[in-house]
Amino acid sequence: MLDILVPLIPPVYGKYIEPFIGGGALFFATTPTNAVIADSNPELVNMYSVVANQVDELILALRPFKNDKDLFYEIRAQDWQTLTPVQAAARTIFLNRTCFNGLYRVNKKGGFNVPFGSYANPTICDEANLHQTSLALRGKPIICADYKEVLREHAKKGDFIFLDPPYLPVSKYSDFKRYTKEQFYEEDHQDLADEVKRLCDLGCHVVLTNSNHPLVHELYGQFQVDVYQTKRSISSKGKKRTGEDVVVTVKPRKSFSLHSIPTPISGQAKKYPSTRYMGSKAKLLPHIRDIVRQFDCKTILDLFSGSGIVSYMLKVEGKQVTSNDYMALCSTYAKALVENNTVTLPMDIAESLLAPAEDSDGFVQETFQGLYFTDEENVLIDNLRANIKGLRNPYQRAIATASLCRACCKKRPRGIFTYVGYRHDDGRKDLRMSFEEQFLEAVRVNNEAVFDNGQQNRARRGDAMTIRNKPDLVYIDPPYFSHYSDNEYVRRYHFAEGIACDWQDVEMQWHTKTKKFKNYPTPFSTKNGAYDAFARLFRKFRESVQVVSYSSNSLPILDEMVELMSKSKQHVEVIAVDYKYSFGTQSHKIGDNNNTVKEYIFVGY
Ligand SMILES: C[S@@+](CC[C@H](N)C(=O)[O-])C[C@H]1O[C@@H](n2cnc3c(N)ncnc32)[C@H](O)[C@@H]1O
Repeated sequence: MLDILVPLIPPVYGKYIEPFIGGGALFFATTPTNAVIADSNPELVNMYSVVANQVDELILALRPFKNDKDLFYEIRAQDWQTLTPVQAAARTIFLNRTCFNGLYRVNKKGGFNVPFGSYANPTICDEANLHQTSLALRGKPIICADYKEVLREHAKKGDFIFLDPPYLPVSKYSDFKRYTKEQFYEEDHQDLADEVKRLCDLGCHVVLTNSNHPLVHELYGQFQVDVYQTKRSISSKGKKRTGEDVVVTVKPRKSFSLHSIPTPISGQAKKYPSTRYMGSKAKLLPHIRDIVRQFDCKTILDLFSGSGIVSYMLKVEGKQVTSNDYMALCSTYAKALVENNTVTLPMDIAESLLAPAEDSDGFVQETFQGLYFTDEENVLIDNLRANIKGLRNPYQRAIATASLCRACCKKRPRGIFTYVGYRHDDGRKDLRMSFEEQFLEAVRVNNEAVFDNGQQNRARRGDAMTIRNKPDLVYIDPPYFSHYSDNEYVRRYHFAEGIACDWQDVEMQWHTKTKKFKNYPTPFSTKNGAYDAFARLFRKFRESVQVVSYSSNSLPILDEMVELMSKSKQHVEVIAVDYKYSFGTQSHKIGDNNNTVKEYIFVGY
């Protein structure tokens, strides 16, 4: 099974611990430098100790042995405990080399009882191999003890533990559990599973092998359990399943040491232009950053990127980021500052975009007259739209379009387009600034935020459910489904979205006052759709670390979300961020009542 097991060894770990060392196939194949090996079989442990520390004497003691049936039974009859350690080790090796199939099996009294093998010419004293084995073992603790004692004493956070216990018998003929005179019963397997859970909580990596027995699946259901077809040479003619082994892979549980008041975001990450985008995680950035830092991940997918602020922070963290959102507005924001590493829009070019455009289509002037902006502003918006199309560089176009959208939202009371006219004018400075000033200011802050993190980042416009990426970590922040409020991003921002997509491929709802267009279909617009979409996304990204933002007043509720996530991830942690506590004055309202809404961050790994 080495071809299966070797790739499961984590690239970085503390110690290698193998408390059921037996033949030690994995240990000898990988010869880890920092290792503890153990077995409860004293004869075996004596042999390894002698190989490690007295290999020359052992070779001398082994040389006289011959592949002879009478000699075999004479030696087999000896009580190894009456011999010197070197003689006892030589006896163990001789019997192992000349017995039937290299089996190790003892009777209830601990006497070796495998018959003579009758092989033509077995190598009894393989000197080169013994020297090599001696080197691999030297200096390592070789312990004779029960596995639990060994693990209690030696296992520490970050260690890798390989457990190859006596297998659960899958047929009544199976002999695998008769390794030592103490049998390994079902209760022992239960204890072992408890120990594995303890190791996992302690922060150890564990790989365990066993037979494909229903109890193994039951005991290790919460971990990754894979079944492999293996041909065992040491196998009796049992039922079908004897040719199948199970490998359980346990990832260490992390101890999330998140601070309720984390270090604020600073430096480059603060340069992201502010937005008033609904559901923006600007305030959660320090938490998300601290969570992501606990994982060794290079590629990150921000599946519902919205304002793009999370993607940008992840870019600052040096990750290779893919930003995805089904709105052109969002993918334009991400194209300008996440995908774009080097291009800025010179201010003189930005100013030239404000000039009258001969090829203006007048769409905004005609369609939205008297709705959101003054006539002059609408003319300007159409000029900008036409002039931006003339920019050759796609990143300059993205910066210009993002700046235009940003200016439109800033010049709009509450930053949204769900109502017409100018109510809600709170006299903010943003509303008093001219449209030109807003646009140029947006270009300036966008330019300032452009930077290169040395990665090829991507902005994608598309449905989250159809993306094919396989990122190390996926950040899932979909629209929150709630009976208390709507989550229709397109309806809220249709005007800015229209600018970003040039009103292409949208279904205009001409009869509406706001002249909006139809929402893009998303499963998160219905309760059942949301449950189903989460389940599908968790399955789809089962190989990735999953980080999900969701709020306490939304569906699925906390327990349901944990259950859904647990189907594809071994560990699910929930971090509840109380805005009131973490950020002083911030509190959110559900409908008419004053409950504080908690922002949950679910982490599945
Ligand atoms: C909660 S917001 C994301 C906010 C973002 N994390 C931020 O910090 O600004 C949800 C986003 O999901 C997008 N969305 C909704 N359904 C989608 C779908 N099926 N595929 C891709 N994006 C979708 C919306 O356009 C919206 O931008």
